[in-house]
Amino acid sequence: LDIHFKYDIVGIDWEAVSSILEIAGLSSTKPEICRKAFQGSEVTIFVFDNGKMIGFARAISDCVMQAAIYDVALLPEYQGKGIGKMLVEGIMNRLSGCNFILYSNVGKEAFYERMGFRRLKTGMAKFINSDSMKDRGFIE
Ligand SMILES: CC(C)(COP(=O)(O)OP(=O)(O)OC[C@H]1O[C@@H](n2cnc3c(N)ncnc32)[C@H](O)[C@@H]1OP(=O)(O)O)[C@@H](O)C(=O)NCCC(=O)NCCS
Repeated sequence: LDIHFKYDIVGIDWEAVSSILEIAGLSSTKPEICRKAFQGSEVTIFVFDNGKMIGFARAISDCVMQAAIYDVALLPEYQGKGIGKMLVEGIMNRLSGCNFILYSNVGKEAFYERMGFRRLKTGMAKFINSDSMKDRGFIE
């Protein structure tokens, strides 16, 4: 592997972002919406192997108190090699001093627990697509 990380969105291929989100099982999001979401995020991190994008993560934040992490995704063939952890830590290092929240994909909770995340007891969410989020196991 020839891994490198990039924290800005200059030159990012949004078709590739959209496709990785789909392949990783996170969402079907059009490239233009991906661009807006990442552009509107405080911290973005993209990871490349030999110049090919293989994953990313992003966070929205006020930079002093609160941050929320979204879209932590890696192509399947790059999972389980410690890169996901580097993505999340890369985000948290750039927002040190903040509280972090996120909602884990069902089954990935232990990945976050290993980095010190704990389950929320009073987490509340109002989703646009609440039926689908219920079906996917995110809400009661
Ligand atoms: C979830 C994901 C980002 C994790 O990245 P990764 O590179 O595969 O994970 P890492 O290799 O960095 O794992 C770091 C640690 O978490 C553990 N871990 C990773 N996935 C895990 C899982 N599903 N269950 C339990 N532990 C897990 C690893 O064993 C490793 O433990 P260690 O530090 O004790 O060795 C990646 O697998 C992925 O993109 N999955 C599909 C998309 C997704 O579900 N994203 C999460 C959205 S909330």
